[in-house]
Amino acid sequence: MVGNALREKVAIIGGGEKNLGGLLSRTFAEDGAKVVVHYHNDKSAAEETVQDIEGTGGHAVAVQGDLTQIADVRRLFDTAVDTYGGADIAVNTTGMVLRKPILETTEEEYDRMFAINSKAGFFFIQEAGRRLNDRGRIISIGTSLLAAFTDGYSTYAGGKSPLEHFTRAAAKEFADRGISVNVVAPGPMDTPFFYPQETPERVEFHQSQAMGNQLTHIDDVAPVIKFLATEGWWFTGQTMFPNGGYTTR
Ligand SMILES: NC(=O)c1ccc[n+]([C@@H]2O[C@H](COP(=O)([O-])OP(=O)(O)OC[C@H]3O[C@@H](n4cnc5c(N)ncnc54)[C@H](OP(=O)(O)O)[C@@H]3O)[C@@H](O)[C@H]2O)c1
Repeated sequence: MVGNALREKVAIIGGGEKNLGGLLSRTFAEDGAKVVVHYHNDKSAAEETVQDIEGTGGHAVAVQGDLTQIADVRRLFDTAVDTYGGADIAVNTTGMVLRKPILETTEEEYDRMFAINSKAGFFFIQEAGRRLNDRGRIISIGTSLLAAFTDGYSTYAGGKSPLEHFTRAAAKEFADRGISVNVVAPGPMDTPFFYPQETPERVEFHQSQAMGNQLTHIDDVAPVIKFLATEGWWFTGQTMFPNGGYTTR
């Protein structure tokens, strides 16, 4: 059943095929948006997400891209323009995590982490600023580690932290077109992204630090992003830290 909160809107979701991005693609489509579902490696997840959206009367198109390549970032926005005539909302959920001590981190790992977490984040915001319609919405996904004092995540938290500065600058620079720009920085989320670099003891520790002794769920975070894309249009240049875990789940 397609609603109408986002009727006539076009949303581009970077990493929109699975997990948080997959839920956003479905949620935005349920509210009437036409969705460009970006994916990197997982074509079958993207196809399934598009099929699910179309199966409930919505509109979606999948597009592959390595967003560390600026040409691929541009192709995402080209797809929105060519398929749906423009774009109103751009959410970048892409990212890569590494938990490793500074003394063991290689140059190759540093470059890989900063390419996806910083460079791709910057050029996604740049292209959105160029291509979104007036009163557009740009949302990047950070991490609650942006507000943490911890070890092991130097290139992940460090790679994501420029998003806050890119966002504040873009919020000022795009304000005359009514475009809002924000970061949503979730706590540890219960997706396959989270577990490979953690031990069972650390998972338990992260749960113990959250409300309700549980990890954040993607459905705790998606409503915050939807809010920023709809009624929350007046928030700009901000970082929001939804940690969830306080639901009746
Ligand atoms: N799960 C957590 O604990 C947690 C907590 C806080 C914040 N976050 C952030 O939330 C966002 C979504 O995470 P998630 O848990 O939903 O996991 P996810 O689905 O694995 O999200 C990461 C996405 O980034 C894509 N990606 C990686 N390298 C890319 C590249 N070079 N070009 C284009 N896309 C690329 C991945 O595609 P492939 O898998 O195909 O490479 C995937 O779609 C991420 O930015 C993450 O940093 C996650």
